[in-house]
Amino acid sequence: MSGAQLFRATLFHTTANAFRERDALRSEADGGLLVRDGRIVASGPFDHVRRADADATLVDWRGGIILPGLVDTHVHYPQLRIVGRLGRSLLDWLEQAALPEEARMADIAYATDTAVRFVAALAAHGTTTALVFGAHFAAATAALLDAAAATGLRIVSGLVLADRFVPAALRQAPGDAYRDSSELIRRFHRRGRLRYAVTPRFALSTSDAMLEMCQTLAAEHDDILVQSHINEDADEIRKVAEAFPWASDYLAVYDRFGLTGSRTVLAHNVHATAAELERLAASGTTIAHCPGSNAALGGGICPLRRHLDAGVRVALGTDVGGGTGFGMLKEGLQAYLMQRVAVDGVMLGPAQMLYLSTLAGAEALGLAREIGSLCAGKAADFVYVKPPAGSVLDAVLQRASGPEDMLAALFTLGGEESVQEVRVEGTVVHQR
Ligand code: GUN
Ligand code: ZN
Repeated sequence: MSGAQLFRATLFHTTANAFRERDALRSEADGGLLVRDGRIVASGPFDHVRRADADATLVDWRGGIILPGLVDTHVHYPQLRIVGRLGRSLLDWLEQAALPEEARMADIAYATDTAVRFVAALAAHGTTTALVFGAHFAAATAALLDAAAATGLRIVSGLVLADRFVPAALRQAPGDAYRDSSELIRRFHRRGRLRYAVTPRFALSTSDAMLEMCQTLAAEHDDILVQSHINEDADEIRKVAEAFPWASDYLAVYDRFGLTGSRTVLAHNVHATAAELERLAASGTTIAHCPGSNAALGGGICPLRRHLDAGVRVALGTDVGGGTGFGMLKEGLQAYLMQRVAVDGVMLGPAQMLYLSTLAGAEALGLAREIGSLCAGKAADFVYVKPPAGSVLDAVLQRASGPEDMLAALFTLGGEESVQEVRVEGTVVHQR
């Protein structure tokens, strides 16, 4: 025994930006994934990989599919219980649904229960890495990071910051926010697989002083991330313009406080100007595209083509609970559907959907050397997908005529029930 494990299944992964490289998709109908000490030693045709270590323990998953662990770049943990509150637009939904539920996170028992369910839901859907909005309360944010550490998922998160717009119970003075954020960074940043992200809720909820405080935190810790929202909804954008009369556009607010750049992920950007796209591209800021949420809250259709043409980095997020669930495969499908009906939409192929759900997210979080594909040398973060016998997906996969058909079917029909096992660094984090 070599101590290694060799997984035999159909493999799919993208090894490059599938919008730029025509052959970014790698597929192996009879594939092998060799894992030792939590790392991928080799991946490719089974017979070939077998020869790399004849003594490895065989895990026979023939009939199933292995994907890289999915990466959700925008999701709110305190909103787990309000998924599906349809029929409202962003600002009304925040007031009536999201913020009242977020206020309940002051109750640490409730927050801890939510956090445990949240990380379990991510894993159950095949998401191994996520950039997560924490809570407005330090203890509740710590509860999420503790729950993440207990499961082994890769979670990047931070205390949500607001000193205006939201109800008083969710507001914090910048000085207190600095103290609490610094303490959370000290406790959790780079503890195991955890990382910290400075998390101003959105421009509307933060004063100049709070944004300055965010800038200070980002400057004090050069490897933490920054996350927020941008250009999601017409009413929101109008209010941001009123709150920051000096700003030429929404992005200018974040630019002014040094909160854009290659370690920043901003959700939505549905209503982006050409000037904003140009500056996003130049700064290397990533947009977390959240098509399900944009449809559910009626924000609009993201101009993906303009993002790609401008050279803006784009990844994918579920935006639970504005979004409609934790499934990153479903989110990939939602991106496809929205672009399909958009004027000048991008016709997304399966390779691009997979890229958006995996490697693009890894790149957004600065983790592309570690995760995002099944290439040798990376951490063994992967998902074993096998639809239940008798399911429609099962029937479709048996009939599929090629790898791209299979992958498209997986995005169309693949839900929680098809995720059989999920591993992070070779260790099981979810089993059905
Ligand atoms: N903008 C500010 N807060 C939120 C939120 O919780 N969800 C969404 N979709 N947009 C926001
Ligand atoms: Zn959001």
